[in-house]
Amino acid sequence: MGRAKKVVLAYSGGVDTSVCIPYLKQEWGVEEVITLAADLGQGDELEPIRQKALDSGASVSLVADATAEFVRDYAFPAIRANALYENRYPLSTALARPLIAKLLVAAAAEYGADAVAHGCTGKGNDQVRFDVAIAALNPDLKVLTPAREWGFSREQTIAYGEKFGIASPVKKKSPYSIDRNLLGRSIEAGPLEDPWYEPEEEVFVMTQSPTKAPDEPGYVEITFEQGYPVALDGEALDPVALVTRLNDLAGTHGVGRIDMVENRLVGIKSREIYEVPALSVLILAHRDLESMTLTSDVTHYKQGIEQTYSEMIYNGLWYSPLKAALDAFVAETQKRVSGTVRVKLFKGTATIAGRKSDLAIYSPDLATYGEDDKFDHRAAEGFIYVWGLPTRIWAEKTRND
Ligand code: ARG
Repeated sequence: MGRAKKVVLAYSGGVDTSVCIPYLKQEWGVEEVITLAADLGQGDELEPIRQKALDSGASVSLVADATAEFVRDYAFPAIRANALYENRYPLSTALARPLIAKLLVAAAAEYGADAVAHGCTGKGNDQVRFDVAIAALNPDLKVLTPAREWGFSREQTIAYGEKFGIASPVKKKSPYSIDRNLLGRSIEAGPLEDPWYEPEEEVFVMTQSPTKAPDEPGYVEITFEQGYPVALDGEALDPVALVTRLNDLAGTHGVGRIDMVENRLVGIKSREIYEVPALSVLILAHRDLESMTLTSDVTHYKQGIEQTYSEMIYNGLWYSPLKAALDAFVAETQKRVSGTVRVKLFKGTATIAGRKSDLAIYSPDLATYGEDDKFDHRAAEGFIYVWGLPTRIWAEKTRND
């Protein structure tokens, strides 16, 4: 008896996931492996990947074009929540996992599979995200994880694949581990494991070096409706087109590079480089528009929600009751987050140049230092007396301590 009869395997075309195919069949007695490659805008050619799965022993090789769903249903909600893990990482890799899990579960239902599988190792966050998301969507499905159990070194993985006709990689393997989709690239391992080591320029693909970026700043106007980005420079764009164009523009100006040591859920600290041009600009602009349209108490309260929301995405809890409840909170806050933010892009920095909204609660009459001032200055005196009373009493009572 094998561990499962029919398995849907998340497939990338790389050596590890290719080797999973014969391994599942030979070592774990799986009768049939169906592969599923998700197109999330990573820019790979998909036809060779589809064919490679069949050559490696898959009975069916599926390719799912999920880029539009990825941006609309995963990235944009995260933007509305200003989601930044540890205040920096906009979760470009983490957001892809619940969607891939959803595609796996749907394919398993369609093909009558009794298990799904992925090629994650035991050290990262992605295994957690897959396993938990799959359990949330279909608690009856088994999840098989060959790469978490086989204990192969890289050489052993390649040697095992060669026995089953899987060609070893032609190019010398880059020392880095890279994950890519339309939202960004995550780069780790190799020399980057030394946190003091400065990444070489060659690790970057989506962003130009700030030192080589144009000497003139670029400007972009981003329009939001209810917290969703809908237009660039006044031109309405669908989510994928908008992110694609902003990636190019921000990337040209060297905007969107992050270098951080982050805390993985599994307890390991890891040094990671990210390139996330569009996503970082969109969160910057979105947060700024909120400063024009939300009351102070909602803004401040939402910051705590945003931190929890980011941690939940990072920690694999996309499909969970608390996340759904926080989504409802965020949606309520976004009803009036509509307007346009103007961002200046210059040699690796993105700064706000201006913002406007028909729904702004910013009030020039109150803010002005000019003659039109409507603020009642005398009212401040009584307010400050009451506000400062506890402090005053405390100071009086403790002055001789
Ligand atoms: N550290 C990031 C995360 O947990 C990205 C990991 C992606 N994998 C990689 N090979 N760089 O979301």
